[in-house]
Amino acid sequence: MCGIVGYIGRNRAGSIMLDGLKRLEYRGYDSSGMVVSDGKGFEQIKSTGRVVNLEEALEEPQLGGNLGISHTRWATHGDVTEANAHPHTSSDGKISMVHNGVIENHANMKKFLAEKGYTFRSETDSEALCNLIAYHYNKEPKDGEKNPFLEAVRKSLRHVNGTYGIAVICSDFPKELIGARKGSPLIIGIGNGENLLASDVNAITHCTQNVVYLDDNEVVHLKNDDFSITTVSSKSVEAVIHKVDWDTSEAELGEFDNFMQKEIFEQPNSLKNGMRGRFSDDDSTAVFGGLNLNAQELRQIDRILFIACGTAWHACLVAEHLIERFARIPVEVEYASEFRYRDAPLDKNTLVIAISQSGETIDTLGALREAKRKGYRTLAINNSVGSAIARESDGGIYQHAGPEIGVASTKAFTSQIMISALLALYLGRLRDLSYGDGVEIVKALRTVPEQVEELLKQNDKIASIARKYAKYEDCLFLGRQLMFPIALEGALKLKEISYIHAEGYPAAEMKHGPIALISEDCPSVFLAASGEIFSKSLANMQEVKARKGKVICIATKGCDIPDGLVDDLILVPECHEIVKPILMSIPIQLLSYHVALERGCDVDKPRNLAKSVTVE
Ligand code: F6R
Repeated sequence: MCGIVGYIGRNRAGSIMLDGLKRLEYRGYDSSGMVVSDGKGFEQIKSTGRVVNLEEALEEPQLGGNLGISHTRWATHGDVTEANAHPHTSSDGKISMVHNGVIENHANMKKFLAEKGYTFRSETDSEALCNLIAYHYNKEPKDGEKNPFLEAVRKSLRHVNGTYGIAVICSDFPKELIGARKGSPLIIGIGNGENLLASDVNAITHCTQNVVYLDDNEVVHLKNDDFSITTVSSKSVEAVIHKVDWDTSEAELGEFDNFMQKEIFEQPNSLKNGMRGRFSDDDSTAVFGGLNLNAQELRQIDRILFIACGTAWHACLVAEHLIERFARIPVEVEYASEFRYRDAPLDKNTLVIAISQSGETIDTLGALREAKRKGYRTLAINNSVGSAIARESDGGIYQHAGPEIGVASTKAFTSQIMISALLALYLGRLRDLSYGDGVEIVKALRTVPEQVEELLKQNDKIASIARKYAKYEDCLFLGRQLMFPIALEGALKLKEISYIHAEGYPAAEMKHGPIALISEDCPSVFLAASGEIFSKSLANMQEVKARKGKVICIATKGCDIPDGLVDDLILVPECHEIVKPILMSIPIQLLSYHVALERGCDVDKPRNLAKSVTVE
């Protein structure tokens, strides 16, 4: 949420930051801006709307200068205006800053600073911190013993309640860049004669693959050729440099029209990558490198609590079904944002598992910390190496799905389900799941990438179905058991990218209220996988038809569907129970995608949303 790019070096800061902002736009896209310093002063440019507007507004000289900070915003405090766009510059013109997070005590800060003569041009909380840094800077003795700019940043941060990822420059220090984080991600990119700051590795992989992940309460002081890290309370910190092994082209569009399309079509690969090296055929089980829990310890687990938000929460619901079914361990699923502030009594042998694509979602991170504080063992299923959730959990499983840029999650969701299936297999084989059942599951999981590849060939057919339904303003997604979370995900996908009001329900629940919505203007998407309750799903479809509702049915091949019952039918291959949620997800993704395109929506940047939600 909000993207930050800062640069110091010998190259043109403006051009490099602009490139970085484009790669980060999925973090927020209501306005953007940059400040570049050429040693003589600050050049500032801001624009509302997409980064392309900033690019158009930028003039050649503004792209030069060897130091700069930039930002793409997702508004928290204050409307979407140029004045509220970052960077913010202190009223004395000395300090310029970009900020991601929320300064909770900004009102008190502003009051204090106003009394000292500082003025404010925006409605943002961030501008308060910027002026506070200026205030401390102006008070700091300039005796050459300490760096007054660095001291001022550290002093100011000690007064902050809330969260921040910041990049700051000072007009008196044209060869220095400072960054700090608490609760909002910030990464240092180590280049050759240049260094960068960013909220996300995507923004800097075109410049360097060497990164340092800043921890909470750390401050980095960067020059062209070196950098040092201290804590806010001035203790020095040893930096650990990591190599990002991403292929940079993974974050580029290539032949695709948009990232959502690219990521839907990448699923055969992302699923393969999630499974690679994770089977033991001899034991017909899964193997994981980073759980940091041995078989005996895992046998002690009596209960699992999953925590997550949004789509990842839907993946948790699938994990609940799979683990309860195949490993017979009771599972609970909580919204991370609720768990964090609830005093939920947990069994002492509970394992807490967070699922998060970005690994930076503040609600999930907060819930994970709360679970750790209470002494529970924690694991993370996560797609972002080095993210806060990955670093703070006791162990975990990386998804290896590759960068997900589209704001609406697709490949990360199916990959989270794949990892959950592997975990169900592994935990099951530590308990009562037989060798033979394990063999069947391994075989089923291995065929998923091929089956997804086949399913994607129905793209044109699903596009034509989508065209028929794009005009409706309401839609229900109905599914039972393992298909209920997929119904929820279908409704979320449709509403977030096409702005159609959509609800997901267990199909049988429909009779208890939602049936009131059924009419010829409210179609229903049924997720009707084969199995013992398939006939019950058919009965639910009859109920919809009897009320003139249109039925789009996504079913497994071989299911017997009476003539005339469904208006449109999409078939997925008949398959093992454990892979049904993955296969059934593909049509709902394509359906939502094509409906959104038909309605002229920007599928990669839906209104009001942003990837990686780093505010509560
Ligand atoms: C919806 C979507 C969100 C995320 C949620 C959690 O398409 O992407 O609902 O799933 O914000 O994000 P992560 O997985 O990064 O914690």
